[in-house]
This record gives sequence, C-alpha cells and structure tokens, in this order.
Amino acid sequence: GTVVCAGGGVGVAPMLPIVQALKAAGNRVITVLAGRTKELIILEKEMRESSDEVIIMTDDGSYGRKGLVTEGVEEVIKRETVNKCFAIGPAIMMKFVSKTTEPYGIPTTVSMSPIMVDGTGMCGGCRLTVDGKMKFTCVDGPEFDGHLVDFDEAIARSKIYEAQEQKMFERRHHYCN
Ligand code: FES
Repeated sequence: GTVVCAGGGVGVAPMLPIVQALKAAGNRVITVLAGRTKELIILEKEMRESSDEVIIMTDDGSYGRKGLVTEGVEEVIKRETVNKCFAIGPAIMMKFVSKTTEPYGIPTTVSMSPIMVDGTGMCGGCRLTVDGKMKFTCVDGPEFDGHLVDFDEAIARSKIYEAQEQKMFERRHHYCN
C-alpha cells in the first residue's frame, strides 16, 4: 500500500533499511525527513533512491520546508490514502506523529530507544508502558504500536536518567579537579 516513513534526526538512519525493504516489496513509499536545520538532514540521497517522494522539513526553514515533521505527515494524509506509517526519532517526535495518524486510523509503528543496561529483559532499565502493560524495549521491542505507547512516561523516565547522568558527571568532574 502507501506508507509514510517519518524520520527525525539520527532516527533517519534506522529508517533507511525499512524504506528500502518497503520499496522492494512494491509499496508506494513517501518519506518525511525532519531536522532542526539543513546540516542535520541526513541520508537524503539514499532515501530518494528508495522513495516515491521525499518531503524535507526543517525547524528553521534552512532546507526543504519550514515546519515540523507532523506537518509533512499530515499533508500526505490529507492528500491521499495512507495505509501505514513508521516513525523513528526522538520520543517527542514519535509521540506527535502517532497523535497525527491516530484520528485517521493509520497503523503506526514507532521504534523506542530508552537507555538499556543488560539488554536481556532482566534489569528493567528499558521498561515502558504499552496498552497499559509493562514492556521491556530490549526484548519486547524496540518496535511498538505508536498509538498504545505511553510516551509521557517514557519521556519522563529518560529525563530521570539524564539528570542522574549529569549528577554523576559533575561528581566525577569535582573529584578530578
Ligand atoms: Fe535491561 Fe531491557 S535493558 S531489561
């Protein structure tokens, strides 16, 4: 069918093999690449080789069109029938792409990337809530139904890790000096 693949920042890299496989399987693939600025748009040439259309969105309008990834996705949805969406990028980006596709009933797959420790489903570091149930990204994912992921919880958890990392860094810096 027709698939919209939305990639933000470094999330564009893991999206490339998905785009290539979708195209090879005979789908119509529309890729939306988003970044804060022109320099952060990556793999455009490779994406063009495997996409029927590439829409580029930058926050500052320095390349492609000025706007958010969701604007590019919604433009396609309003224009034609979309059967499936993939979104890979920062959690906040995947949250809003999922919110964009949900009212249209377009199945949306996201790829979560929380901090992982053991990667075997034992430590619980990568846990998130999907459809009200606890899941481990490392063994149950990393791909999940974007309409069922509790993104707010995932974003809050990643902020806790960032704060702890910052504290550890400051402590180390203190001892080293
Ligand atoms: Fe430890 Fe997934 S990384 S449970």
